Amino acid sequence: MSAPLIEIVPDKPALVQRALTLVVEAIRSAVADHDYCALALAGGSTPKPLYSGLAEQDLPWEKLYIFWGDERYVPIDHPDSNAGMAKAAWLDRVPIPPDHILVPPTLEGDPAASANQYNAMVRAVFGGLQGISTAEVPQFDLILLGMGDDGHTASLFPHTAALTVTDRLITVGNRGRDPRITFTAPLINRSRQVLFLVAGADKQTALGHVFAPEGDDHAYPSRLIRPQGELRWLIDRQAVGNLDLGQSSLP
Ligand code: 6PG
Repeated sequence: MSAPLIEIVPDKPALVQRALTLVVEAIRSAVADHDYCALALAGGSTPKPLYSGLAEQDLPWEKLYIFWGDERYVPIDHPDSNAGMAKAAWLDRVPIPPDHILVPPTLEGDPAASANQYNAMVRAVFGGLQGISTAEVPQFDLILLGMGDDGHTASLFPHTAALTVTDRLITVGNRGRDPRITFTAPLINRSRQVLFLVAGADKQTALGHVFAPEGDDHAYPSRLIRPQGELRWLIDRQAVGNLDLGQSSLP
């Protein structure tokens, strides 16, 4: 893995604007290179204005394949649904073919079965796109990630079983007693590009642990993200505080 690219931006609006530029570039580059773009979305609150901005772009929508890096185990019309948020902010406003939007299943009442079902859905799409066997890990073009104030990413929470799952693409993550459907670290690390979006002073402590030269990956799971492709962090000044992350600062 090459060294992470670290960009510090003044505030969350600047982070969203920079992320919009990077995501549009990644989509256009992927489509130009191999005629599709496989994109996994982050949940939480930070990316919502990014998704609204993407709805205003002129992009080759029919070439996009949309997935979620994690999903809360709730119906899509639940206020906590990551898929529901992205569809309302973006996906329902642009002509992406419905069968290109792979919403994690969360209605079966059995998170493990839902994770296996999503695993099969991801494999089926990439089997068609990349002709890969079930022994291979599909390669996303871009995976968007957030980071919690405890250093989790996707639904890879500290000291949970999901952190050690390496034989599957999708597994059950647990935020306390709440089950989630999540990409595993190997699937994330296979991606051509991974982009973290981190804003807010509450992320500062965890950032310090994630970027520390030594540390416990299972205490701060964002440390597990070391993609073979490009890893870029977009971080606002509130989250950086006085930390020295070896970053390049944008004006
Ligand atoms: C989720 C996310 C999670 C999120 C971080 C940051 O389902 O909540 O996928 O990993 O990205 O918790 O959330 P904020 O952007 O709201 O700070």
